Amino acid sequence: MKTVRVEASAPYDVVIGRGILDRAGEFIPARGAKIAAVVSDDTVFSLYGQRVVRSLESTGLRVVSFTFPHGERSKNGKTFLEILEFFASRSLCRSDIAIALGGGVVGDITGFAAASYLRGIKYAQIPTTLLSAVDSSVGGKCAIDLEAGKNLAGAFHQPAAVVCDPDALDTLTPEVFSEGCAEALKYGIITSPELFSHINEKGKGFDREYVISECISIKADIVRRDEFDLGERALLNLGHTFGHGVERASGFSISHGAAVAIGTATVARGAGKLGLCEKGTAAAIVSALERLSLPVACPAPLDPDAVFDAMTHDKKRRGDETTVVIPEKIGKCRLVPMSKEKLYELMRAGV
Ligand code: GLY
Repeated sequence: MKTVRVEASAPYDVVIGRGILDRAGEFIPARGAKIAAVVSDDTVFSLYGQRVVRSLESTGLRVVSFTFPHGERSKNGKTFLEILEFFASRSLCRSDIAIALGGGVVGDITGFAAASYLRGIKYAQIPTTLLSAVDSSVGGKCAIDLEAGKNLAGAFHQPAAVVCDPDALDTLTPEVFSEGCAEALKYGIITSPELFSHINEKGKGFDREYVISECISIKADIVRRDEFDLGERALLNLGHTFGHGVERASGFSISHGAAVAIGTATVARGAGKLGLCEKGTAAAIVSALERLSLPVACPAPLDPDAVFDAMTHDKKRRGDETTVVIPEKIGKCRLVPMSKEKLYELMRAGV
């Protein structure tokens, strides 16, 4: 078992260990809470809900649970309000705790509901996808999507704990597991050649406990220095500017992880062609993504200009400029503010 401390404004531990789902209650600091409200999606709750409920009950908590249909389409204002109404109907008070059991959608919407209900209650994250284990469950960013774009309403609200059982990833489809691999590889590209090499060499058979704890340690360092995303934290958006455009232009038929893979490959190829990265960097990134069974180009029906239009809705834009994460070499990325014209040139060079 490994523990990574996240020294954010409200510090907490991320505990990573095989089989710890059954001991989740031990690792969640719920002092003062009488009720734990488990929020999950229908798929995850049917797989793991009862184990988590039992573990929480064994610590003396009364457990209530709310589930919603799985998938990105649920990450909206309607589900958000339903969760808040559920908390109110079960009389949760300020000292009670919400538990997000699931992937990125569950973690994001539960975190935002916890940040909003009674102006903020505690919550813990129990990630059950690789993507949420290595990225979204840690760092306190939580949000819902609006009609105008992804993650446009949200908050920074750090969890009280993150409990991650790598065995929970056994039930993921190969596609969903691959999507998380794109996020894991991202940490290698931005700061760690060793992590990149490990994932590249082992492919999808990488050491899960090692990879998850490395990714979380890297993220914890970045969050400690830039919790509120005013600078360096933007490095975690490698591939996301273009990726969010792909997701949106595809009507969300392309998943977040697959879109991030396409976005990462596109920015790497573009940076290579425009001479912004070391020779061989783009090829290494594209081949590592392919080895993880991830897409590296927009599927034919998607028009790059439509993707570009969708990208301009990305909230990472500041005024007329968009900050793009450029991989200079494996283990080193740079934030580059780009005008719309420059961004278009990069995208055209990379598709
Ligand atoms: N997922 C990117 C971040 O937490 O900043």
